[in-house]
Amino acid sequence: MINELKSMKVVLIGAGSVGASYAFALLNQGFVRDLVIIDLNHGKAEGDAIDLLHGMPFSSPMNIWAGTYEDCKDADLVVNCAGANQGPGETRLDLLEKNAKIFKVITESVMKSGFKGIFLIATNPVDVLTYATWKYSGLPAHRIIGSGTVLDTARFRYALADKFEVDARNVHAYILGEHGDSSLPVYSHVTIGGKPLKDYQDPNKPNSEELEQLFVGVRDAAYDIIQKKGSTYYGIAMGLARITKAIIKNENAVLPVSALLDGEYGQKDVCIGVPAIINSNGIRELVELNLTETEQKQFNKSADVLKQSINQIFN
Ligand code: LAC
Repeated sequence: MINELKSMKVVLIGAGSVGASYAFALLNQGFVRDLVIIDLNHGKAEGDAIDLLHGMPFSSPMNIWAGTYEDCKDADLVVNCAGANQGPGETRLDLLEKNAKIFKVITESVMKSGFKGIFLIATNPVDVLTYATWKYSGLPAHRIIGSGTVLDTARFRYALADKFEVDARNVHAYILGEHGDSSLPVYSHVTIGGKPLKDYQDPNKPNSEELEQLFVGVRDAAYDIIQKKGSTYYGIAMGLARITKAIIKNENAVLPVSALLDGEYGQKDVCIGVPAIINSNGIRELVELNLTETEQKQFNKSADVLKQSINQIFN
């Protein structure tokens, strides 16, 4: 397929650390034509727009302005980063009640504009808020994408690359499930330079305890960063930009995003991190990995955690 560059209008809702970092990533990567920034604090949105525009001579032409929900009408992509983020010691699921209320108001405001594009969700708990956006918007599920485990997977690939001293771009691996404490590493499908992890022999291959520790470091990375600097934003912003690029360039890229399952992995009616083929229409299809029995059990447990949170909001 010839990948045509779709000139895109992206609306960013929420100019906090994540949203502003995402906008900065888009400016530096130069594949978005129009970027509208919406924030409760309109002055902040205006300030970010002006500050970013001053970087234009170092990037490529892009229109950036502080807008309103009216700007969503002809937008191709609305990226929702609005809401509270985790404080020290808080889990992502602790944010559910307050952010679900915020999401209902925002999603209804976007839909009132006549929006017919794709939603990309970043706010935590991202899997439940992806599901909530699907419910509140009434749009087809393939046009509702959550950042899911795209960042967890990037952390996992980085950690494995560091362990094996190879370029992270040559490590293919997934973290699936909740973007949170119940996520799971799919070690059965890790390849380093195309060679399956299981084919590596000692002493090059970390033992099972070292692999478990490596995953725990990935799963708990956000807590460590939040303890040190108060919040995380660069990694997630890069992940959001990656998903945006797959949409804009109609890439059919396989990315681990939060998507609504309808029987895949033996689960239904839950949004959860799974590999998905992403293009200009949103989610083309989900990729079902042949999980081991242990991985499937962990995946089911993660899906149950998310279904409990969904029931908290919708039942
Ligand atoms: C993190 C946030 C985005 O994992 O949940 O850094």
